[in-house]
Amino acid sequence: MKKSDVVKALLSECACEPGARGRAFAPANIALCKYWGKRDEELNLPITSSLSMSLGAWGATTEIAPRDGADRVWLNGGEQRPDSSFAARVSAYLDLFRTDHGFDVRTESRVPIAAGLASSASGFAALVLALNELYGWGLERRALSILARLGSGSACRSVHDGFVEWHAGSRADGMDSFAEPLARTWPELRLGILEVSAAEKAIGSRAGMKSTVATGALYASWPEKVADDLLEVHAALETHDFERLGRAAESNALSMHATMLSAWPPVLYWLPDSVKAMHAVWAARERGAPVYFTMDAGPNLKLLFLESDRSIMEKEFPNMRIVEPNEREDA
Ligand code: DP6
Repeated sequence: MKKSDVVKALLSECACEPGARGRAFAPANIALCKYWGKRDEELNLPITSSLSMSLGAWGATTEIAPRDGADRVWLNGGEQRPDSSFAARVSAYLDLFRTDHGFDVRTESRVPIAAGLASSASGFAALVLALNELYGWGLERRALSILARLGSGSACRSVHDGFVEWHAGSRADGMDSFAEPLARTWPELRLGILEVSAAEKAIGSRAGMKSTVATGALYASWPEKVADDLLEVHAALETHDFERLGRAAESNALSMHATMLSAWPPVLYWLPDSVKAMHAVWAARERGAPVYFTMDAGPNLKLLFLESDRSIMEKEFPNMRIVEPNEREDA
């Protein structure tokens, strides 16, 4: 099954003539239970379900308009060369929808690109939401989530705010693999970004994931670990048990990285400063600060803590940038 078959199925009753312009915002998201491994690489269908928290006003705003000729793509005000990885990915995705024209695409991202801070998730989600406006598709969130997944798996979670679960699904066409928001809220929860490096990573998550599934000796244990952690995160969100949430999220992230380390060649996103930061979190916890971390396919740490501990956290981690997941910015 090809991406274009999925698009055809979802858009069979929609207009295919674009309007003048579409514009939308989508938040970045951080997974508390990670997505790592695909059962279908073409459609970005995951082996396991995953669960994330959207990052409020931290995300991407994308504006899109049709134009004659080739695509032109801007990122944070700078035009991207058509052969850059960013523009090439955007154009390849737009091929799924265009007839015989190009697009102007302008993205403003508040998230460092490619540093493991889920920038592609908010980027593709914002692009899909902007296309929905441009074409007047009037699609529901479930279909938008599926379309975003075709751009990047984790993007399917960024079409929602709050806590979001991406159901792995089992169908070959992926129509049951989409994200849904959870009814739970936790206004006190905060995320702190401890940036170790903003440099582009040497191995992208797509390649790292593929190699882990193909060669990771520990990968076989991952689906069971995710199933356990999903139950834990759900229970913690239900009862607002912060320690339970933090433990599940930190353990899930470290287990994901363990599967990567068991691949050959090994996949390691950590830098020496990442490990230093982990020790700093563990030391702070020893001193009584309720703080846990999660990490994605990059060297940076994302700290989980509660608003009531903000001043302790600011003292422990003066360089941390705090994200308030409930603060929303509308395009
Ligand atoms: C470690 O969604 O970027 O951030 O589907 O190949 O585009 P593709 O991968 P991507 O992978 C994200 C992996 C992760 C974990 C997560 O966000 O769940």
